[in-house]
Amino acid sequence: MKSKCLEVDGISKHYHLPKGVIHALEEVTFHVHEREFISIIGPSGCGKSTLLKIIAGLDKPTKGQVRLKGEIISRPHPRISMVFQSFALFPWRTVLQNIEFGLETRGVPKRVRRKIAERLAETVGLKGCEYCYPRELSGGMKQRVSIARALAIDPEVVLLDEAFSAVDEFTAQVLRSEVIELWEETEKTFILVTHNLAEAIEMADKILVLTSRPAKLKHMVTVNLKRPRSRHRPEFVKLQRELFELLKEELEKTIIRHKLKSIYSQEKIDDIEM
Ligand SMILES: Nc1ncnc2c1ncn2[C@@H]1O[C@H](COP(=O)(O)OP(=O)(O)O)[C@@H](O)[C@H]1O
Ligand SMILES: [Mg+2]
Repeated sequence: MKSKCLEVDGISKHYHLPKGVIHALEEVTFHVHEREFISIIGPSGCGKSTLLKIIAGLDKPTKGQVRLKGEIISRPHPRISMVFQSFALFPWRTVLQNIEFGLETRGVPKRVRRKIAERLAETVGLKGCEYCYPRELSGGMKQRVSIARALAIDPEVVLLDEAFSAVDEFTAQVLRSEVIELWEETEKTFILVTHNLAEAIEMADKILVLTSRPAKLKHMVTVNLKRPRSRHRPEFVKLQRELFELLKEELEKTIIRHKLKSIYSQEKIDDIEM
């Protein structure tokens, strides 16, 4: 029996704004086993990033709990790290200094953290760029730095928020296979949020499908395909079509709701965020 690593238990999140309340998440419950690779998909704006931020302890739920091996997450946790779509690197720090950041805040001595950063820079293919600044790097290289930074603290859980969406498709493909290798080598638990269905199927053991906002768990599917997974195999294509239908239902709901809203408030549909 695999043991539960992360438990997301009845998470709701409401943002209180001057204009009213935004219900981002409603009673989201699931758990992730140790060393599992989970993908979370859902329509744009449904609450995926909010969910990841809550798991990372960067935001607080209105209701519910996230637990890592039984411990409630209420602030950024040393065993959980996150990779952002926008890289979120410090422009004034070199590659090595960026990778070292989490170790530095934990008080790891300079020589030790430099060694770890150098090893990780090499692991993610940044040898020769250790003293470059982010402005000197391509998007793919920047994302390698943030992946190395996330791994530097030796987390149990790595969260990836649309981590391959800001780079070109070829680079994304290379990064995806590298992340799968890292996952296999490091035996960590990975959670990837993505709007890219093929990416979710290619990488994950299990895919969670969220509804449009407020995000609830709509469906969960186990991906029983051997890695590396070819996007052309009939089972792959079939699963992709099934997931597409599920997401289409959600998008249609959003569009109908917006259309009605626009009829009542005389707003133009183009002005409304999907
Ligand atoms: N800090 C915040 N304050 C207010 N509203 C927010 C905040 N973060 C996210 N939201 C709102 O919550 C909803 C879900 O956002 P998000 O989690 O970023 O969606 P996704 O990642 O699925 O595209 C959106 O309507 C967004 O505007
Ligand atoms: Mg997002």
